[in-house]
Amino acid sequence: MAESQRHPFLHGLSKHRGAPPTVVVIFGASGDLTARKLIPAVYNLGVDNLLPTDFHLVGYGRKEIPDDEFRTLAADAIKEFSRRELDQDVWARIAKNTTYVAGGYDDADAFKRLAKHIDEIEKGVGRDVQVLFYISTPPSVFAPILKNLGGAGLAQKHLDQPHHAKVIIEKPFGHDLASARELNGTIRSVFEEHQVYRIDHYLGKETVQDLLVQRFANAIFEPLWNRNYIESVQITVAEEVGVGSRGGYYEQSGALRDMIQNHTMQLLALTAMEPPVSLHAESIRDEKVKLLKAIQPLRLGPDGDVARAQYADGMLGGKPAQGYLKEEGIAEHSKTETYAALRLSINNWRWQGVPFYLRSGKRMARRVSEIAINFRHPPGTLFAESEKFNLAGNTLAFQIQPDEGLSLILNAKVPGLETRTQPVKMNFRYATTFGSNTPEAYERLVLDAMIGDGTLFIRGDEAETSWKLCTPLLEYWSEAGREGMDSYPAGSWGPPSADALLAKNNHHWRQP
Ligand SMILES: NC(=O)c1ccc[n+]([C@@H]2O[C@H](COP(=O)([O-])OP(=O)(O)OC[C@H]3O[C@@H](n4cnc5c(N)ncnc54)[C@H](OP(=O)(O)O)[C@@H]3O)[C@@H](O)[C@H]2O)c1
Repeated sequence: MAESQRHPFLHGLSKHRGAPPTVVVIFGASGDLTARKLIPAVYNLGVDNLLPTDFHLVGYGRKEIPDDEFRTLAADAIKEFSRRELDQDVWARIAKNTTYVAGGYDDADAFKRLAKHIDEIEKGVGRDVQVLFYISTPPSVFAPILKNLGGAGLAQKHLDQPHHAKVIIEKPFGHDLASARELNGTIRSVFEEHQVYRIDHYLGKETVQDLLVQRFANAIFEPLWNRNYIESVQITVAEEVGVGSRGGYYEQSGALRDMIQNHTMQLLALTAMEPPVSLHAESIRDEKVKLLKAIQPLRLGPDGDVARAQYADGMLGGKPAQGYLKEEGIAEHSKTETYAALRLSINNWRWQGVPFYLRSGKRMARRVSEIAINFRHPPGTLFAESEKFNLAGNTLAFQIQPDEGLSLILNAKVPGLETRTQPVKMNFRYATTFGSNTPEAYERLVLDAMIGDGTLFIRGDEAETSWKLCTPLLEYWSEAGREGMDSYPAGSWGPPSADALLAKNNHHWRQP
């Protein structure tokens, strides 16, 4: 039996989600992301019979790489990074249609050669093919690639047909509001918005998609999903790793740009948005934008809604870990935050008065991404915190990574002859219920883009709305220099200033 029929996640997919004949062109094909995620994603879609019959993969990059060598590099990437072992039959089917075009990203002639190569593929297929361009390069070359796609007529290919050209753009989508607007401007000068797929791989994760199902397919949650029952919401994206050898890159970025502006804001939008009128991409994205627009501007200043810090020397996994300022490529007086926390207020009917706390940091105690919904306490007339009654607030936590799942903290009676209480945790783990071979986020996202489903991608106005909220803070921090920069030991859960942010509301950070 084919795996696509056996695996519960894939049930029905191959029947209903067929992509048309497609050429995927990867810009930056010799890069890290291509090897670790994109090639393995294509391969695993092949294993699951989810690639169209006429599927072609074209690598593009500045290096001269013969087709054969590119195929070998791709096979090596699958062997090293794929969640499933290389099956020679599946790979042979993909490899025979895998080619490479060498050229610069600002070289108009090279893009004409690329266009000719795609035309030849199309001739071989014998019918129209859609082209999906995947821009997986550093952002400095996003604009030249986009312009050259327009110049070579590739962006407009089959524009009047359903199988028109599409483009996936990797993060970072700008580094502030002005640059995001500029990038959107460049994109719109070449592509129409419905052709554009701005990727945030978090949205491809099972638990993130499950958030919609939990919220809107279960009667028990939606009635409670508002200011009457929810005390606060905490969204955590914590990493154990430090900056490693990427210090130079990270110095230009920081936690707010790298994580908060994109991943955590996306998680927030899906958690707090109103029910969309349908599951159609535009309905969901409309609600996300509405929600992002309802977030109040952050109060800046020492007593404001924000905290930032850098990791200092500490211990991680029983080993000493050095502080950020000692890492390779980091300026002596760096003002780049490796941790950021925000307290957001959403000024709408559903959420007024409910604080949303967002935090993200490097070198934290554990790698974990989660959304925790903290419910209000019931009246304490029968059970109030005491020696006998150990009580916790009810918390519903969506664990996005690792160990994708959902847990609910409840209070229960401890068995025995007297009434004592204790918090207990109900756990649902994807791996336990559905098996551990979950498709990777990139598989889902590449397939969705091939099919033309933009639900799990970010629309231009969404990206700009999120930058609009974060940019004043970036400017404020940039002007402040190191003033107000807190620190936290590597391997801890963050700095005292972030604890103080919650203490003002009598809240504290959860330890996931
Ligand atoms: N790696 C990840 O895990 C990850 C995760 C999320 C998002 N992203 C995003 O995905 C994109 C690609 O990431 P990556 O890690 O694969 O990047 P990368 O390895 O640094 O670069 C990808 C390719 O782009 C070309 N390139 C590199 N620097 C260039 C430059 N200065 N000018 C022109 N071309 C250059 C190179 O190809 P040629 O020399 O062959 O032309 C390189 O192999 C980035 O936007 C990144 O932010 C990456």
